[in-house]
Amino acid sequence: MAETEFDVIVIGAGPGGYVAAIRAAQLGLKTACAESRETLGGTCLNVGCIPSKALLHASELFEEAAHGTLAKWGVKASGVELDLDAMHGGRREAVDGLTKGIEFLFKKNKVTWLKGRASFQDKGTLEVGGTAYKAKHIVIATGSSVTPLPGVEIDQERIVDSTGALELSKVPGHLVVIGGGVIGLELGSVWRRLGAKVTVVEYLDQILPGMDGEVRKEAAKIFKKQGFELRTSTKVTKAEKTGDGVTLTVEPAKGGEAQTIEADVVLVAIGRRPNTEGLNLEAAGVKLNQRGQIEVDHDFRTGVEGIYAIGDVTPGPMLAHKAEDEGVAVAEILAGQIGIVNHDVIPSVVYTYPEIAAVGLTEEDAKARGEVKVGKFPMMANSRAKTNRDTDGFVKVVADARTDRVLGVHIISSVAGTMIGQAAQAMEFGATSEDIAYTCHAHPTHSEALKEAAMAVTGKPIHI
Ligand code: FAD
Ligand code: NAI
Repeated sequence: MAETEFDVIVIGAGPGGYVAAIRAAQLGLKTACAESRETLGGTCLNVGCIPSKALLHASELFEEAAHGTLAKWGVKASGVELDLDAMHGGRREAVDGLTKGIEFLFKKNKVTWLKGRASFQDKGTLEVGGTAYKAKHIVIATGSSVTPLPGVEIDQERIVDSTGALELSKVPGHLVVIGGGVIGLELGSVWRRLGAKVTVVEYLDQILPGMDGEVRKEAAKIFKKQGFELRTSTKVTKAEKTGDGVTLTVEPAKGGEAQTIEADVVLVAIGRRPNTEGLNLEAAGVKLNQRGQIEVDHDFRTGVEGIYAIGDVTPGPMLAHKAEDEGVAVAEILAGQIGIVNHDVIPSVVYTYPEIAAVGLTEEDAKARGEVKVGKFPMMANSRAKTNRDTDGFVKVVADARTDRVLGVHIISSVAGTMIGQAAQAMEFGATSEDIAYTCHAHPTHSEALKEAAMAVTGKPIHI
C-alpha cells in the first residue's frame, strides 16, 4: 500500500477519533488520524474535560482551606492565599501530560498523525496539508465547538467561552454566566470558589435541562445555598462593553421589562454545535440534518459507502465517554467484528460539588412510557455521608412497575460520578431494583445509598 493510502483515516483526534484510530490499528488496519490542533486529544483533553476538572479540583481544595471547612475538621490553616498562576500551571501540566500521552499511544500503535485540516476531495480521498490521502474507510470525528450567541461577541477577555473561562488571569468580581447547563455550573463553581460572585442567566424556567425534574429542583437549591444567583426564565438581549466590564441587558424570557446587569466577565455557555465547516462534505455526498449533525445508523454509517461518523458531530449526548465507546465500536466494525454501543445506558456527570450524575430515563420520561415505581434515599441518612458531613443530595431509582427492571438512576452526592458507574453496569446487565437491593454493598460507603434507594422501590429501606 502506498504511503498515502490507508485502510482507515479518522478525521479528528478527540476522545472519539483517537480511540477509533488506536483500536483500528490494534486490530491490524493501516490507520491514520488527521488533526489540525497542535496537540492530540481534542476538545476534551485540551480545553474541556481535563482542564476543567483540574480547576474544579484545585478550587475545591482552596475553598476547603480558605473558608473554614478544613478548620471544622481540626485542620487549622492560616494565611491561606490563592496562587492563581500556580493553579493554572497545574491545569496546563495535566493537559500537557495527557495530550503527550496520546501522542505516545499513536506511536506505540503505529497510527500516523496527519497534521492539518482534512477536507474531502471525493468519498474515498481526503486532502490534508496539501497532500491527497486515500482510505477504504473514513471516520468523521470532528467534534463540536461553542454555539455563539448573536449580539454577545466573544473576545476571550471580558466575554469568554469555556476556553476563555479556563484561562482567566484574575478572579472576576462578578462573573455572569449565560446558560445554566453543565459548563455554566462547572466553571461557575470554579470561579465562585475562588471568590467571584456568580450569576447564572438561564432562558428556561430551570437549570440543567434534560435532567430529572427533582434533581433539577434540588440542584438549584444547593447552588443557591452556595451563593450562586440563578436568574431563570431570563434572556440576554444585549451585551455592551463598558470601561472595564460588560453591561448585559436582560428581560423575562416571555418578554417584559428590561433590566441591566453589570459584569466583570461574561461566560457564554449555551451549548455546542457540530464541527462540519471546511470538511467539504458535499464532495463526498454526506448530508447534515437540520441541527447540522451527521446522522448515522446503528453501525455509525453515514449513508455514503465507506464513510462513518462518531462523537459530538453526530446526534446524542455530547460526552467524551460516548465518543470513546463509539470509537471502539466503529473500529471493531471496520475490522469485521461486531461493535455495539448501548445508547440507552450512557451515564452523565456534572462535576460540581456535590456531583450530579444520571443514567437512563428521567422519572418524567419513564412515566411517559408506562407505569413506574420510584425509590429515593437521602444522603442525609447515609452513614458515610453523615460522617463526612457531605449530606446534600439523594439517590433515586426509577424502575418499571411491572418487571422491576431499572430504567434510570439519578444521584446528587459528593461522589455521584463514581457511584453512577455501578448503576450503569447494573442497567447494562438488565438488573431489577431487587438485584441492586440484594447486592452486598461495602459499609460505610456512599454507595449504600444506592442500595437503599433500590430497597425503597419496594418500600423497604432500612435506615429511614
Ligand atoms: P472533539 O473532542 O471535539 O475532537 C474533535 C477534534 O477534531 C478536535 O481536536 C478538532 O481540532 C479536530 N478537527 C475538527 N475538524 C477537523 C478537520 N477538518 N481536520 C482535522 N481535524 C479536525 N465530556 C465529558 O464526558 N466529561 C466532561 O467532564 C466534560 N467536560 C467538558 C468541559 C468543557 C469545558 C467542554 C467544552 C466539554 C466537556 N465535555 C465533557 C465534552 C467533551 O469534551 C466532548 O463530548 C468530547 O470531546 C467529544 O469528543 P469528539 O471526539 O467527538 O470531538
Ligand atoms: P448545555 O446544553 O448543558 O447548557 C446550555 C444551557 O444554556 C441550557 O440550560 C439552555 O437552556 C441555556 N440556553 C440556551 N440558550 C440560551 C440563551 N440564549 N440564554 C440563556 N440561556 C440559554 O450546554 P453547555 O453547558 O454549553 O455544554 C455544552 C456541552 O458540553 C454539553 O452538551 C455537555 O454535554 C458537554 N459538557 C459536559 C460536561 C460533563 O460531562 N461534565 C462538562 C461540560 C460540558
